[in-house]
Amino acid sequence: MSENGKFQPVIVGFLCNWCSYRAADLAGISRLGYPASLRDIRIMCSGRLDPAFVLHALQSGADGVLIMGCHPGECHYHEGNYKALRRVRLLKRVLRQMGLEDDRVQLHWASAAEGALFAETVQKMADRLKELGPLHWPDNIKDMEDRIAHAKELAEREEAE
Ligand code: FES
Repeated sequence: MSENGKFQPVIVGFLCNWCSYRAADLAGISRLGYPASLRDIRIMCSGRLDPAFVLHALQSGADGVLIMGCHPGECHYHEGNYKALRRVRLLKRVLRQMGLEDDRVQLHWASAAEGALFAETVQKMADRLKELGPLHWPDNIKDMEDRIAHAKELAEREEAE
């Protein structure tokens, strides 16, 4: 996406209903500015994040994906954010294998009361993506479904350990 001829990265944000989604609301109510190119999607817990969602978002035009969940120890489903942490680590590995910068996928924590932290996190991610430039998703990736299946398999294996 470009605004005044300048690159404005598209960020897809998967936000936990109990914390960062509310932090986003608070940032809005408090009139804290953050990049309008964030496309937020509410999920019930960061642990609900399927690695396929992230890869599909990047393949569909996002320059980066931001996942935000409750602080460690504060997940409403106990371990969901730890699950998200493991999945994001694996996703970063998959991105590196594809020759893409792993900073394009980031996981952060914010409570419902941290509207300012939310706004700052989105701004920092947008700044980093501006440095990286637009994502040129490799057209030659034909085995996308296999990669998604591989990422899921790795995540499930790690979770079972
Ligand atoms: S409920 Fe927020 S990360 Fe699990």
